[in-house]
Amino acid sequence: MNDSAYGSELRLTFDDDDDGRDAVAVGGSRDLLRPELADVGRLARRGVRALVGAARAEERPQLSRLISGHLGEAAEGLDVVEETWPGYEHVNVQAGLDAWLAVPGRAHEIVGVVGFQHTVFGLGELLDQDGERFRHGLRPGNPATVNLASGPDGQMRACQRCAVYLVTEPDGSRVTVLLRGSSADMGMPQVSVQLVGTDPAGAARAAGEIRAAAVEHNVFRGQVLSFGQEVFGHGQTLLQFHRRPQMGADQLILAAETLAEIQRQVVDVARHKERLLAAGQHLKRGVLLYGPPGVGKTHTVRYLVSSLRETTVIQLTGNALHLIAEACSVARTLQPAMLVVEDVDLIAEDRGMHPGEHPLLFQLLNEMDGLAEDADVVFVLTTNRADLLEPALAARPGRVDQAVALALPDAAARRALFDLYRGSLEVDTSGLDEVLARTDGVTASFLKELLRRAALVAATRTPDGIGLAVSAEDLTAALDELLDTRNAMTRTLLGSAPG
Ligand SMILES: Nc1ncnc2c1ncn2[C@@H]1O[C@H](COP(=O)(O)OP(=O)(O)OP(=O)(O)O)[C@@H](O)[C@H]1O
Ligand SMILES: [Mg+2]
Repeated sequence: MNDSAYGSELRLTFDDDDDGRDAVAVGGSRDLLRPELADVGRLARRGVRALVGAARAEERPQLSRLISGHLGEAAEGLDVVEETWPGYEHVNVQAGLDAWLAVPGRAHEIVGVVGFQHTVFGLGELLDQDGERFRHGLRPGNPATVNLASGPDGQMRACQRCAVYLVTEPDGSRVTVLLRGSSADMGMPQVSVQLVGTDPAGAARAAGEIRAAAVEHNVFRGQVLSFGQEVFGHGQTLLQFHRRPQMGADQLILAAETLAEIQRQVVDVARHKERLLAAGQHLKRGVLLYGPPGVGKTHTVRYLVSSLRETTVIQLTGNALHLIAEACSVARTLQPAMLVVEDVDLIAEDRGMHPGEHPLLFQLLNEMDGLAEDADVVFVLTTNRADLLEPALAARPGRVDQAVALALPDAAARRALFDLYRGSLEVDTSGLDEVLARTDGVTASFLKELLRRAALVAATRTPDGIGLAVSAEDLTAALDELLDTRNAMTRTLLGSAPG
């Protein structure tokens, strides 16, 4: 802490010398009057103390005093440089600022700002020596932090809610930084960093360096995130971390050419990006996965997320679809990135938050268009209502450069799915050909459920304590059950309505 600036506060703690030594000095005998004399002395000292205390309270280190103590008396006339970020970037701003402060040769002290909650102010107001009204209630104190998520497994980073950093640069010049987190209920959706420096160019340079450090140390990079909105909050945008799914290629049963098409567009473009760029080709790309429910569109996305380990993934769903612009901005900053919009048909007609806005789908397509050609960002859209999307996509060609149809599994794929979902379950496959023939037109999720039902039939038939073994009859019984007219709704739920 800046000693000179805090000195006056430290001096407020008086040495309490009510220890009787004065009384002893007055006399030293045990005369009855002596204690009364000592009391008078005590009273007098208490009076003086109250007086000096009140006088010095005036000199209490105000923030402006601290800051000008750091920057010198000319501080008031110095320019304030400001950088702002959306509220959800608070954790990254802190990470960037911390990294910037840790640069060897740079020293700093941190001063918390007490009473900031209901006051709109910046460094300009803090520097204004006469602007008492702005500083009303604002005073230096212990830094107040908030823990913000910085990883998928409950990782947190302590972030300053409102703090002043008194920084001494390696060359001896001085900078003061005010970091303030967003406060939606105060109508301040942004995180801001304000800087003032003894060297005006130094403050601007520091601002740029902190912005760059916030990108370099961005905790979202390489993570799987979803954009959402706080249901009961004040319209706060929430970014949530998710653990990256682990999924092998053997868990995704797709026709070889379908998978190859997806891989080429999503994975191979990234893999060959240097050469593609050198050859003047663009990297940004959009893939639409379409097909009936339950054929594995979401499953395919999961596989892509799992296999692109270094890629930042941003998922936009449900109530967060109007945050398309924000999501695109994060993707652009953290490329290579994949932006996933599932069930994109839901936004084909949906309009944004404000009247007169284009349907969200148009906004999405415009954002895709606005992205630089060389941005390594892949948009993966899914839908089971391609017919709803077609007019919009046709009206804005070129954003989605690959539409991949995911079809219902053919006989070979159904066999592969059967093997996959059978796992370690013992199954008598003597009647399997017939069973598979009867499942023409079902989805992958139907076959998954078929195996579980067969296992359940076997479990019901045999006593406890015996390992499960599905007989050919169990399998047929399970299929009969699922194909029964009474299970029409179940089939619909599984995405399957075979003839
Ligand atoms: N091709 C596949 N290979 C392996 N499993 C699959 C496949 N397709 C679907 N499944 C299984 O079925 C489940 C449901 O599939 P999924 O959610 O991917 O369907 P979807 O195409 O996204 O459907 P919707 O249009 O309803 O969103 C998956 O969780 C997975 O277990
Ligand atoms: Mg899906």
